Amino acid sequence: MCGIVGYIGSKQACDILVERLEALSYRGYDSAGVGVFNGGEIEIVKTAGKIARLKEILSGSKPQGTMGIGHTRWATHGEPNDINAHPHPDCTGDIIVVQNGIIENYRLLKAELIEKGHRFKSQTDTEVLSHLVEEYYNGDLKEAVKRALKRLEGNFAVVFMHKDEEHLVAARLNAPLVVGLAHNENFIASDVPALLKSTNKFYILHNGDIVSVGRESVEVDTFFDRSKVDFKKRNISIIDWSVEDATKGDYEYFMLKEIHEQSKAIENTIEGAITRGGRVHLDMAIPEERLRQVRAIHLVACGTAYHACLYGRYILEETLSIPISADIASEFRYRDPLLTERDLVVFVSQSGETADTLACLDLAREKGALTIAVTNVMGSSITRRADTVIYTRAGPEIAVASTKAFTSQQVVFLLLAGYLHDVRRVKKAKENMREVAKALKNLPEMMGEVLKSEGDCKLLAEEIAEKEDCYYLGRNIDEPLAREGALKLKEISYIHAEAFPAGELKHGTIALIDEGTPVVAIMTQDAVLEKTVSNIQEVIARRATVYIITRDDVKGLEDFARMVIKVPATHRYITPILSAPPLQLIAYYAALKRGYDVDMPRNLAKSVTVE
Ligand code: G6P
Repeated sequence: MCGIVGYIGSKQACDILVERLEALSYRGYDSAGVGVFNGGEIEIVKTAGKIARLKEILSGSKPQGTMGIGHTRWATHGEPNDINAHPHPDCTGDIIVVQNGIIENYRLLKAELIEKGHRFKSQTDTEVLSHLVEEYYNGDLKEAVKRALKRLEGNFAVVFMHKDEEHLVAARLNAPLVVGLAHNENFIASDVPALLKSTNKFYILHNGDIVSVGRESVEVDTFFDRSKVDFKKRNISIIDWSVEDATKGDYEYFMLKEIHEQSKAIENTIEGAITRGGRVHLDMAIPEERLRQVRAIHLVACGTAYHACLYGRYILEETLSIPISADIASEFRYRDPLLTERDLVVFVSQSGETADTLACLDLAREKGALTIAVTNVMGSSITRRADTVIYTRAGPEIAVASTKAFTSQQVVFLLLAGYLHDVRRVKKAKENMREVAKALKNLPEMMGEVLKSEGDCKLLAEEIAEKEDCYYLGRNIDEPLAREGALKLKEISYIHAEAFPAGELKHGTIALIDEGTPVVAIMTQDAVLEKTVSNIQEVIARRATVYIITRDDVKGLEDFARMVIKVPATHRYITPILSAPPLQLIAYYAALKRGYDVDMPRNLAKSVTVE
């Protein structure tokens, strides 16, 4: 939620800030702004709307200077208009701030500051920050910011600038922030990909860190009480993602590029994890003995990552024969789950920064459970709080609609199942996990095969794009895929879509099926294939138009389906991974046909760092 940037160096700050904000615009795009010190004063240019609008305004004249901060907003407090756009100045205009997060006690602070004579212009929570720092400023920005931060309740990442000081001051608490280090210039941003064009050297900031970023030096300190926290010197992280990973290349949208990157993402995720004989090796910081004692596993996540957990639940349950549950993080944290030191909780988060998922992780730790984080982002908050981390190595995912991270998360569940199966010495699993692991090695190639159906997916999508409702059906391990297909369509094409276990439709929802209602069925599992065919017949009898995604060795479905998309026949645990790209492509082309901005769907943000 919201992207923030800072620059101090020898180049024109405004151009750099705007360019970096574009890379962060997946975090919010309600309004955007920059503030640059022009040698005499701080000039702010900000506007409602996307960064393209800000660029238009700046094309007339732009503030000249080599130090500045910028922001792209996903509105929480105050509607997305020009005044509520960041940066926010104090009363004098000498101090400005950009923020990502929420200051929960802002109303109290605002009342106190108004009482003291401060004049507010916006409806945002953020504006209290510049006035609070103004109140405490006594010639040392960092000290004033430290004092101000101690008064805040909430979660935030902030960057401040003062016209009389040649450095930026930034801090974080439960919202991401990195400092990019380069020669005679330094950067601040909400994430690593935004800065890859300039550097691959970073300080990945931790909660409680406050940094003073000058042209040639960066000092990391803490705004917590040093005697109470274990503050260590930060090491520089070298990030091996490339600039190409974070740019669109020849693709019109990041989403399409990322759909096409799935073979590579999976290849990287499984690299080195599977032996020739099909054993799975994972670098786990949890002793095997503890894993053997685990009596139940809980999977927790939000959005698309939750759908990966639903898939993982089937696989782990069949493999380990212990209770497995999957929960949405925003519910799990408020239902006082029964957790002990013999429970293992797996948290899945592409970004590693989702507020609800992190809160659940803290809860699980408090209760003494073992914790595993599955994430795509090195150094993200989740990696520092879990007992151990398994990385999806999908590379930066920029489009709001998650694609390659999802299939990589599915793959991680297969690896985890194979690993735990061996560690726990499970005698009888439903499937031979060595065979699964061997088949998994061929998945990158098969993912390439699946993408050959892109033309058919486009045709199918163009039909659905004409409709206002769409239903997705699946049974068994295909059911989470139905949910993911519906979510993708909703997120980017704004077509109302719902997913159901195929057998459940007749308990109510079938009443909505009418002539021409599109129904997409995912049918890759033999054990339930005929049952799903019966459910399909039920909707056809109500004149629905049926589209099917199935394996290429399943025959005869063409007789009653309007279109059939085929994925390579392989192990039954893997076909639900191969079904994901067609579902993603259907959503993509439906959104395109309807003329929407695929990478920036309305009302959404990729990384949800507020509750
Ligand atoms: C947001 C995104 C979704 C994502 C979810 C969880 O809602 O729009 O695409 O699945 O957050 O994100 P995470 O980074 O925790 O996987």
